[in-house]
Amino acid sequence: SPPPVRTTYRGHTILGMQPPSSGGVHVAQVLNILEHFDLAKMDSNSADFCHVITEAMKLAFADRAHWLGDPAFAKVPRGLVDKAYAKQLAARIRMDRATPVKTHGTPPRSTDDLYSKHTTHFSCADGEGNWVAITATVNTSFGSKVIIPGTGVIMNNEMDDFSIAPGVPNAFGLIGGENNAVAAGKRPLSSMSPTIVLRDGQPVLTVGAAGGPKIITEVLWAIINHLDLEMPIGEAIAAPRLHHQWAPKQLLLETTFDKKMAEQLTAKQHQIKRSRSMGICQGITFDTKTGIFTGAFDPRTTGSAAGE
Ligand code: DON
Repeated sequence: SPPPVRTTYRGHTILGMQPPSSGGVHVAQVLNILEHFDLAKMDSNSADFCHVITEAMKLAFADRAHWLGDPAFAKVPRGLVDKAYAKQLAARIRMDRATPVKTHGTPPRSTDDLYSKHTTHFSCADGEGNWVAITATVNTSFGSKVIIPGTGVIMNNEMDDFSIAPGVPNAFGLIGGENNAVAAGKRPLSSMSPTIVLRDGQPVLTVGAAGGPKIITEVLWAIINHLDLEMPIGEAIAAPRLHHQWAPKQLLLETTFDKKMAEQLTAKQHQIKRSRSMGICQGITFDTKTGIFTGAFDPRTTGSAAGE
């Protein structure tokens, strides 16, 4: 199978899933943009902190809508995770207000440096140092709600992850273009983001999520909260999250953010919509000094972490 999408973030190596999931590409792209902002020095309860993360999400999701699709059919540029491209995008972010993102950007070598075909990405953690990150999806609840008789296997409704026409949103409000149009034999675009983070070549964090496009931003929050803000993995996953996917023009803000935050982000011209709870995220960390693994599940729903 092809190599994972790879980037670095503040001295760590981030390994993510290749297209046709957009997760690996956009987790990496948003982190590359955010590296230009010293998040650890910012007040994580400030509107500035939330604003800069929102702006980076918007830029990445605008690119997702245009560029991403099954690489067996569409030209998906590897330059989307280029550091110099991220620097250009970061320079478009103003701290005082929300900047309109009219369309996608153009990453370097966008016509000839492309992701190639790949098979299902598989990734778990054990004391031998083996780590796997797995995400599987049937799309919306119970998929197509059809079980193949005698098997117990639920058929998915993954057709919804294609864009049926330019600008027409799917079940998660995502839009897309030609790259993710329906075609025979083509796999629909995903947001699955099974991620493994290495420090000095050794796995120290794995994280993944459910929630459609929010998968990408949930995984980002867990990485930012753990690596930048040094939260233990349980706190990193439980902490309030926001989500912006470029279209619709709407900043989803969990109600655990206070009213003042919502007002300050509105003052920066973000269009806020409050949401009680967004997505479900899971993660494991490994402390290289103590040799202790810590697993955490999302308190937003039922789940558990176990070890032996
Ligand atoms: O692959 C995707 O991006 C979607 N099929 C994921 C859907 C999803 O996470 C639904 N769940 N909570």
